[in-house]
Amino acid sequence: MAIDETQSNEQLRQQIRRDIRSRRQSLSIEQQQKAAQSVCQRLLAHPQVTSAQHIALYLSFDGELCTKPLIDALWQKAKQLYLPILHPFCSGHLLFQHYQRDTKLISNRFRILEPKLSCLQVLPPQQLDVLIMPLVAFDKQGNRLGMGGGFYDRTLSTLSDKVTRIGIAHDSQLYPSLPIQTWDQPLDCIVTPSRLWEWPRKRV
Ligand SMILES: Nc1ncnc2c1ncn2[C@@H]1O[C@H](COP(=O)(O)OP(=O)(O)OP(=O)(O)O)[C@@H](O)[C@H]1O
Ligand SMILES: [Mg+2]
Repeated sequence: MAIDETQSNEQLRQQIRRDIRSRRQSLSIEQQQKAAQSVCQRLLAHPQVTSAQHIALYLSFDGELCTKPLIDALWQKAKQLYLPILHPFCSGHLLFQHYQRDTKLISNRFRILEPKLSCLQVLPPQQLDVLIMPLVAFDKQGNRLGMGGGFYDRTLSTLSDKVTRIGIAHDSQLYPSLPIQTWDQPLDCIVTPSRLWEWPRKRV
């Protein structure tokens, strides 16, 4: 891709991030709660989630689809949950740490809550069964646009097909066709309050 083309692609990605983040932030508390419940029910019925033992997910911020009902329901089912932590030395990378009801949380440099690092509680991502992640925008091909840090792209690029990659979002985060970059990692499944999309592993 020529430099001009790369720049305009990045500009478009930034514009989409701005538009969809403001759409997401404008949802009412009631809309957020309803959306969180619908996505929770849909995920609890998903075979890969039902059979999973180790599930990574996130604590929502910035209007992201709220994971609180899902977390409570998965704990009820005795699933082992993990939250991402910014890697202390390896910039741009994530660690996944065990998350239990009594886990102490601290605010990271993006003001996102994460467990206080405890090396013994860290699980190599390859041992996850399911990785549930937030996103800013998605399209009907399973492409994902995040906040722009490349954190999930780096994580997903090292994972084998054994780990199911699920994105969760509000319906309004759907974008017709995302301008993707070579490093963007597609998802296996996206769940919104109104429906579930799934794609086979091998995509062109
Ligand atoms: N596997 C990788 N190795 C090295 N750099 C990467 C990798 N994946 C992404 N990056 C870098 O991360 C930066 C941000 O990527 P991108 O704009 O796709 O973020 P994003 O997908 O929106 O964020 P996130 O993955 O955190 O949700 C880019 O400069 C890209 O080059
Ligand atoms: Mg990306």
